[in-house]
Amino acid sequence: MVKLAEVQTLNAALAADSPKPLVAVFLGGTSGIGHMTARALASSAQQAGGARVDYLMTSQGEAIFQPRKDTTEGLDETMAILGTANLQVRSHLCYMHSMYMSQLAELHRAEKQLRLVHVFPGLVLTPAFHNPAYSAWFRFLFNGVLAPLFLAPFVAVDPVESGERMLSLASPALYPAASMSGTGDDSSSSRGDESGKGGTVRGMDGRPGSGAYSLDWKGDDTHNQKVYAKLGDEGIEALKEQVWEHTNTAFEDIAAGKPFTE
Ligand SMILES: NC(=O)c1ccc[n+]([C@@H]2O[C@H](COP(=O)([O-])OP(=O)(O)OC[C@H]3O[C@@H](n4cnc5c(N)ncnc54)[C@H](OP(=O)(O)O)[C@@H]3O)[C@@H](O)[C@H]2O)c1
Repeated sequence: MVKLAEVQTLNAALAADSPKPLVAVFLGGTSGIGHMTARALASSAQQAGGARVDYLMTSQGEAIFQPRKDTTEGLDETMAILGTANLQVRSHLCYMHSMYMSQLAELHRAEKQLRLVHVFPGLVLTPAFHNPAYSAWFRFLFNGVLAPLFLAPFVAVDPVESGERMLSLASPALYPAASMSGTGDDSSSSRGDESGKGGTVRGMDGRPGSGAYSLDWKGDDTHNQKVYAKLGDEGIEALKEQVWEHTNTAFEDIAAGKPFTE
């Protein structure tokens, strides 16, 4: 686990070391986790402007477990906004994200700058759970009973802490770009010594500091070696290629104004 004090140190270093002015874009920054991350950034760094993007956070989201509704691009709306439609698809999508991001990081290795993070933020009690798309009884039970009595004191991540943690994922110290990574060995521990200090976090391909990271709310990697081992190196490469093609075809069709039908 990346301790909160370390998260705050990383954020202070981010503010000091970032290009000035720092350009940050928040998709989904008006509420919840994106909003708290924007606040954490605002309290660390105070410049704005510029023509490039240094930090992009996409935390847009809507009510889950809703019936399928297609967008004009031919995508399931929930999938398009959230990237998750149900738990089974969620787990598949996490792997798809991982594959796509790993490939993207690899392609930009020479530039030594691109760092990608896919994170599960834990349970954070945000306005998301007051969404009127959820039934009144669910909202009452969840927000009026479960959240204050059990979730907030024992389970949920504090929203301010969540914002600080999300911002710290921009730290190159723990999550460097591909070309900045070290030896690329497959050690099972993703962080330096046994105390958890130093070293970089293991990336999606299992190598520490590989430029694309799949993380849990504590900032630790969620790489599941057993799942990848089943596929073997060739299987992983083939699947990566398939995901890459599929996703890029969707982008190309949509950019050309055609609905995506694949
Ligand atoms: N909170 C949790 O416990 C939790 C757990 C796991 C995963 N997540 C994921 O983390 C993300 C953020 O969750 P949250 O709790 O912070 O949610 P939230 O408080 O409901 O915030 C969602 C944000 O997404 C924006 N948004 C909704 N539809 C959009 C669209 N079509 N285009 C662009 N922006 C759109 C909203 O903007 P407006 O308010 O302006 O509509 C809002 O700023 C979501 O993807 C969620 O699934 C959350």
